[in-house]
Amino acid sequence: MNLSRLVYYSQRNPSERLDTNDLIATCKRNNARAGITGMLHYNGDHFLQVLEGGRAEVSAIYHRIARDTRHSNIILISCNDVRERMFPTWAMGLHEGMDGRTEGIFLRYFATAEVNPETISSDSLLDVLQDISAEMG
Ligand SMILES: Cc1cc2nc3c(=O)[nH]c(=O)nc-3n(C[C@H](O)[C@H](O)[C@H](O)COP(=O)(O)O)c2cc1C
Repeated sequence: MNLSRLVYYSQRNPSERLDTNDLIATCKRNNARAGITGMLHYNGDHFLQVLEGGRAEVSAIYHRIARDTRHSNIILISCNDVRERMFPTWAMGLHEGMDGRTEGIFLRYFATAEVNPETISSDSLLDVLQDISAEMG
């Protein structure tokens, strides 16, 4: 079965209640069942998520997530066939906040820590997420 990896960026909807503990518990439960792995970075305003797994499963979860009213302005950054998972041990890792270390990781790959989802390179974004997950242990 083919593996796919999808990356998107979205904006938190401030008028909807968001409990990230609840959200990540749901992610872990559903994703483990569907063989989905990945990483979710939430800086307080925006989400950056990578989903990897079977093509049909990634597609199905992405469409479900895209309908979630807790976020909007979803920008699909990339969706590709891949040979290997980048986050094989994370049913979904959550990284929250933008502290100095995280900003330092963004600055390793980008000129500024501001992400412009319309122009940003998906590969550099994946590098950032991989470094963030490595720091999470
Ligand atoms: C930013 C964001 C990321 C999400 N990521 C996932 C995910 O990786 N897996 C998942 O099952 N649900 C995810 N969700 C939640 C789904 O939109 C949906 O609420 C959930 O899958 C419903 O699961 P349930 O029927 O088990 O309650 C995410 C929601 C948001 C706002």
